[in-house]
Amino acid sequence: MASVVLLCTSIAALVSAVAGELLTAEQFANAVPGHLELDPEFRKLHPNIPGPHEDVDPFIVGGVESIPHSRPYQVGLYIPVTTAGVSFCGGTLINARTVVTAAHCVDMRVGNISVFMGAHNMPPGGDLNIVARFAGDVVIHEGWNRAILLHDIALIRFEVAVPLSASIIPILLPRDATHDYLGNTTLVSGWGRPSDSVNTISPVLREVTSSVISNYACRLAYTGIIESSHICISGSHGRGTCNGDSGGPLVVNGVLIGVVSFGSAFGCEVGWPSAMTRITSYLDWISENQAPAE
Ligand SMILES: *[C@@H]1O[C@H](CO)[C@@H](O)[C@H](O)[C@H]1NC(C)=O
Ligand SMILES: *[C@@H]1O[C@H](CO)[C@@H](O)[C@H](O)[C@H]1NC(C)=O
Repeated sequence: MASVVLLCTSIAALVSAVAGELLTAEQFANAVPGHLELDPEFRKLHPNIPGPHEDVDPFIVGGVESIPHSRPYQVGLYIPVTTAGVSFCGGTLINARTVVTAAHCVDMRVGNISVFMGAHNMPPGGDLNIVARFAGDVVIHEGWNRAILLHDIALIRFEVAVPLSASIIPILLPRDATHDYLGNTTLVSGWGRPSDSVNTISPVLREVTSSVISNYACRLAYTGIIESSHICISGSHGRGTCNGDSGGPLVVNGVLIGVVSFGSAFGCEVGWPSAMTRITSYLDWISENQAPAE
């Protein structure tokens, strides 16, 4: 009994020493999920994208808790920002030294990012599967601009490769840049708000399935915003990115095809699609900017 307690304590101390040294327990607890839709500047620039509505039933959300460690590419990010204290986003491990996330997650950071891999719970506590990094090497796409919501992609690079395990495995990138994935079944995962409480992340990893819709259909929802480098998933049946944080993975059959970017605020509003950064549009940019795997 005593040794278990000691072990947990030392792992927790290790995590905070390696990754969270600038984060207090309070900051962990109060981390705000990164939602572009809730940014006041975003609301001014994009008044036609619906904001949160009182009359939308916040419990209409698809999705379930993931089987622990079944999404070994999933990454959790705590980002110190001036506005919110600490912001929380998702990310995806694409090789042992590189995480892909959304530009809007990291463009206002004021310090190194606490990056957790191999976690199911968030904050990760004393989970023995986790590896943590305290990372400051961030590449934001040079074309990223909040006003036009284009090129919402960034990379976080580690100096030292992450040790891979059953709980930490990089995801595959698409091999065919011309594939549009129209109609394919998608999986989004994250520690995003499970929908009921306003400002806290889900304590466990959750996931939701949906399907890719055409950019034409997506443009009907987001007039003037959707370009070929976006990819959208259906919001029907209340499935959407309320279950996946900004920056997190959109996956088809084990391949990363998107990075969660934006939706209508609270993304679970029935019928509104969620918009992602389309990975096939950035394969060259990723290969030029990622850290080599070893
Ligand atoms: C912050 O990140 C930079 C760049 O990755 C790194 O050199 C530095 O050691 C990190 N700082 C801490 C306190 O870990
Ligand atoms: C995606 O959909 C196309 C067209 O229906 C199908 O041929 C293909 O097998 C699907 N791919 C995956 C990975 O589901």
